[in-house]
Amino acid sequence: MDRLLITGGRQLSGSVEISGAKNAALPLMASTILCKGNTVLRNIPDLKDIKTMAEVLANMGAGIDFNNGVLAVNATSLVNKEAPYELVKTMRASVLTLGPMVARFGRAKVSLPGGCAIGARPINLHLMGLEKMGAKITLSQGYVVAKAKRLKGARIFCDISTVTGTENLMMAAALAKGTTVIENAAREPEVEDLANALNLMGAKVTGVGSSFIEIEGVEELQPIDYQVIPDRIETGTFISIAGITASNILIKNCRTEHITAIVEKLRETGITITEEKDGLRVVGPPRGKLQPADVKTLPFPGFPTDMQAQFIALTSVATGTSIVKETIFENRYMHVAELRRMGANIEIEDNIATVRGVERLFGAPVMATDLRASASLVVAALAAEGETLIDRIYHLDRGYEKIEDKISKLGGDIRRVGA
Ligand code: EPU
Repeated sequence: MDRLLITGGRQLSGSVEISGAKNAALPLMASTILCKGNTVLRNIPDLKDIKTMAEVLANMGAGIDFNNGVLAVNATSLVNKEAPYELVKTMRASVLTLGPMVARFGRAKVSLPGGCAIGARPINLHLMGLEKMGAKITLSQGYVVAKAKRLKGARIFCDISTVTGTENLMMAAALAKGTTVIENAAREPEVEDLANALNLMGAKVTGVGSSFIEIEGVEELQPIDYQVIPDRIETGTFISIAGITASNILIKNCRTEHITAIVEKLRETGITITEEKDGLRVVGPPRGKLQPADVKTLPFPGFPTDMQAQFIALTSVATGTSIVKETIFENRYMHVAELRRMGANIEIEDNIATVRGVERLFGAPVMATDLRASASLVVAALAAEGETLIDRIYHLDRGYEKIEDKISKLGGDIRRVGA
């Protein structure tokens, strides 16, 4: 099992190119189920989760070709086959095949994802929405089976804003008979990216980017050639890295309108972030000068839960106390125990983390527990005194493309080592 060995303390410089967004790419891949023909998706990051989704589609009979960031999915000879437990258990986003499968074939079978490290993460809203659209849902031997001759338009209210839930229902509604309304829809840029792609395929989705999305169903959709948006969380992670290492770097290929909350909050910590012609210039304050800041995670356009762990790592060396409130997932503080092993002073009570800034962190052997927790350990390790060995980095490989290459290129001391 690979590990990452990081020696902290180096100042970074140069530029880094942000990859395509994993959480935009996954629903786009699922959307290829909706039509026959060859869909081409560009700027697809080379990640474990992308490969798992490709396997889910291949298992259903899709032709897959992934080369140099370009993914072609030919869904012409797709058959009505399930998303099996072996794949779903490694990636919950496989559940995104549920909506498009039932829309195209009138039947879908997907292994019910269990809980995961960061929370219980039920899919009741995905199922409620499909039921409203006329699907009959049954649970059998750990699988969800959804059946409907043809889905019909419905008015769906989500009492919690759900990203993949909104995406699943939007894809299902694209081929339904009549008009579907999703109220309290998720507004994340990844949802918007999917809606834009669906519209290019011939769907009729309006209200994109708002919490009220209307989808007028059509008879069929056409394959497209589409470029995935850059990863806003990877961007935020690199801003944090520059901030904690007192570095000056240029972040290329990012969309500033997707990271307003991240930029505003990280500026509060003393990081200077300015737009330049070819990217975002990020300059961290001198060592020992990071300011504390309070943050609450919220659905978009609020501060993303996927940046909470990196924010805690950053503020763990600030000059005062920061209060962090996690409101999206109930167990998303697993990184805290590992950061404490590096000398951080963080207390957790319920969903609130009190981060008392320390002068410096020290390298230590630590364990990655989930994707963003791993990213926070990388952020911390790059600033820590001495060596940090991060174990279980397969979590990191699920969501960060070539992270050690990108950090090395900036001058960081980071190496992948075998077990
Ligand atoms: N929820 C329900 N019922 C549902 C669906 C969600 O109660 O049917 C709850 C969840 O338990 C959670 C809240 O609603 O408390 C929001 O969850 P959401 O459904 O929005 O999360 P998701 O769609 O499962 C996506 C991202 C996550 C990201 C969250 C929140 C993808 C593939 N995953 O998950 O990404 O944290 O939205 O923004 O898009 C990551 O990349 O590290 C990651 C975990």
